[in-house]
Amino acid sequence: NREVGIALLGVGTVGGAVARTIAEQRDVIEARSGIRLVVRRAMARSTERVVQAGLPVEVATTKIEEVIGDDGVDVVVEAMGGEEPAATYMRLALESGKHVVTANKEALSKHFAGLVATARSSGRALLFEASVGGGIPLMASLRQILAVNRITRIRGIVNGTTNYILTQMAERGATYAEALREAQQLGYAEPDPTADVEGYDAAYKLAILASLAAGRHIRPERVDRTGITGVTPEQVAEAGARGGAIKLIAGAELDAEGWRLRVGPEFVPGDHLLAHVRLNYNAMEITGDRVGPVVLYGQGAGPQPTASAIVSDIVDAVRFGAVLTPEIAPE
Ligand code: NDP
Ligand code: HSE
Repeated sequence: NREVGIALLGVGTVGGAVARTIAEQRDVIEARSGIRLVVRRAMARSTERVVQAGLPVEVATTKIEEVIGDDGVDVVVEAMGGEEPAATYMRLALESGKHVVTANKEALSKHFAGLVATARSSGRALLFEASVGGGIPLMASLRQILAVNRITRIRGIVNGTTNYILTQMAERGATYAEALREAQQLGYAEPDPTADVEGYDAAYKLAILASLAAGRHIRPERVDRTGITGVTPEQVAEAGARGGAIKLIAGAELDAEGWRLRVGPEFVPGDHLLAHVRLNYNAMEITGDRVGPVVLYGQGAGPQPTASAIVSDIVDAVRFGAVLTPEIAPE
C-alpha cells in the first residue's frame, strides 16, 4: 500500500474536519483504495488550530515555501477561503508538482481557466468537489453527464446558510439575526457571512457550474445577483400561507445569446421539490439534451459533508491524477 502525504492550507471549520476525517477513516480508505493518508504539513496562523484538529504540533507551519518545498507532500488541500493568497498558493502548489484539492468557490470561480491551465501543464489534478453543494457528488455527476450531453439548464439551491435562515424564519418564526447566528455556530456560513446573505457565494458556485457546462470560463461578475437581506418575515409567512416557500434560487440557462445567470430570492410553489429543501440542504437540477433533468440533493454546507467530498477528491487525485482536471477555455 502507498503512503500519501497531505498538506492542509487552513485548519478552520473545513480544514479541521478534513484532518479528523483522515484520522477517523484512514483504515477504511486504505482498505478500499490501497492509499494511506498522512497529514505532513498544516498551514495556519496559529499552532493552536493545528493541535485542536488533533494534528501533531510538528506539522504546523506559517510558510507556503515549507509546504510546496516538501517532497513528502503529494496533495495540497486549500481550505483557507478568499481569493488571495489562496489562488496564488494553489498555483504555486501545482507548479511544484502537487495535486490540489480545494473547497474555495471564490478563488476558483475568479481564476478557473488559469488554475486549470496550470494544473494541466503541470500534469496534476485540480479537484473541487466540495466547492459547490458541500457533500453532494455534483462534480462527479456533472462529469458523467457532460461526457455525452450538452447541458442547457442548471437550477437549484446552492447555499446552505441562506436556506437554513429562510427555513428557520418560515418554520419557527426565528428572526433573521437569530437564524444567521445559528448557521454560523453550525459551521455553515462563510468566514464573512456577507458572502452568503448577499448571494455572492451562490453566484461563485453558479459561475463554476456554468463554466463546466460551457467548457469555458464564465466569471461570477456575469451573474445577476440579489441576496436575501431584503426578504421580510411577512413575505416568508405569506409564501408559507400560499403553500410554498421563498428560496434563494440560482439559475443558469443557455439561449441563443449564450448563458444567462441569475441568483435571487423567488417564491417556489409547494408542488415543486425545491420548496421542500430544508435547513443546510442543497438541491440542483441539471438538464442535459439526452438525459433530461437530473436532480442531486444532500447537505450543501457543514464541516462533515464538506470533508467527505474533499477526502474523496484526495483519493481520486492520487488514483487518477490530471485526467480528472476539466478543460476550461479562457473567457
Ligand atoms: P474558516 O474561517 O473556519 O477556516 C479558514 C481557516 O483558514 C481559518 O482558520 C483561517 O485562520 C485560515 N486562514 C485564512 N487565511 C490564511 C492565511 N493567509 N494563512 C494561514 N491560514 C489562513 O472557514 P471554513 O473552514 O468554513 O471555510 C474554508 C473554505 O471552505 C472556504 O473557501 C469556504 O468557502 C469553503 N467551504 C466551506 C464550507 C462550510 O460548510 N463551512 C462548505 C464548502 C466549502 P484564522 O483562524 O487565523 O482566521
Ligand atoms: N457558506 C456556504 C453555504 C458553505 O452556506 O452554502 C458551503 O459552500
